[in-house]
Amino acid sequence: MARINDNYLKLKAGYLFPEIGRRVAKFATENPSASIIRLGIGDVTEPLIPAVVEAFHRAVDEMAQRNTFKGYGPEQGYDFLRNAIAQNDYQARGADIAADEIFVSDGSKCDTGNILDIFGDDNVIAMTDPVYPVYVDTNVMAGHTGAADESGRYGGLVYIPMTAANGFTPALPDRKVDLIYLCFPNNPTGTVISKEALAKWVQYAKTNDAIIFYDAAYESYITDPTVPHSIFEIPGARDVAIEFRSFSKTAGFTGTRCAFTVVPKTLKGKTSSGQSVDIHPLWNRRQSTKFNGVSYPVQKAAAAIYSAEGKQQIRDMIAFYLTNARLIREGLQRANIEVHGGVNAPYVWLKAPRNLSSWDFFDLLLAKGHLVGTPGSGFGAAGEGYFRLSAFNSREKVEEAVARFQKVVG
Ligand code: MLT
Repeated sequence: MARINDNYLKLKAGYLFPEIGRRVAKFATENPSASIIRLGIGDVTEPLIPAVVEAFHRAVDEMAQRNTFKGYGPEQGYDFLRNAIAQNDYQARGADIAADEIFVSDGSKCDTGNILDIFGDDNVIAMTDPVYPVYVDTNVMAGHTGAADESGRYGGLVYIPMTAANGFTPALPDRKVDLIYLCFPNNPTGTVISKEALAKWVQYAKTNDAIIFYDAAYESYITDPTVPHSIFEIPGARDVAIEFRSFSKTAGFTGTRCAFTVVPKTLKGKTSSGQSVDIHPLWNRRQSTKFNGVSYPVQKAAAAIYSAEGKQQIRDMIAFYLTNARLIREGLQRANIEVHGGVNAPYVWLKAPRNLSSWDFFDLLLAKGHLVGTPGSGFGAAGEGYFRLSAFNSREKVEEAVARFQKVVG
């Protein structure tokens, strides 16, 4: 009989969002007349912007003609998209990133998991708690952890609390670590990091020869001009960081699929014998072997967000979701709920009332309000007692959700 990867058996029962989906489906079957409002998974609801749709259509038309048809594209992405990203997302912000340091992909979730392919198994790995569960689970799958304890924390990982008690600014590790996951604007807490605090992480990484995996999938929701959009806005970061970005939340591409990862050519790691090696060619080799690139029409559609009209339409869409976030935040505050985030991010992080556990509050909201959110404990032990609401829904449903929420907790 073939051997399986035993590490999969260490994983908690289900990935968080499918588990929520199962509970909601069961409730819906048992309560067929309930009109359920979903503010759980951060999945966008607004249609693609016109500039994107037009570019998509044009690219499909090109694929329909012999003289403009395209087969395999470059595994790293087409130059038109890599150039647009380098100029608009990096160089325009004073970040020294070149187009050939950008690898276009089908998602940041995939990339944050796949990146582990090019790193060894004996690194000390740090991540915040609460945290996007993909970082934890992919390390469990790769055999980088021991078993989980009762609170869901895995042996071998260094967890750095990121809670109301420290203002959601994680402290630097109290020991030497090799790989660090940071996500800002943060999923799940919806909070951000200042340039000064991020510079301390860059300095830590330099001093300790560590690499930071910086997930900036929500950067387009930043409204505060002092908050960094990219770790590469911090001097020296290109020697210590890999950045993950996505069109999912920026441009409503959760179903369309397009993202990118920035691996600077100056970033180095070491072999088991201690020899220094460049990381960029390793990721290039990994992608060229295991990935065939993102489809031409999707990349054309993504590039359209950098046109003048695309930029304006994207700004309007993000402003729409951020208004939803404000309505949620203010509605909860009026109900005397402790709330965080939701200003520079599409997520609002709240303390469950009456000291309810995260899952008890999930069940209460679903049963009494027909509302779906995400239990904070699903993001880590430090999320216990907290709850996440996402701002991705129609205005009408968000307003209705706030009214129902107030009734349930009132
Ligand atoms: C979330 O709800 O946390 C996100 O949708 C997860 C993701 O982007 O994969």
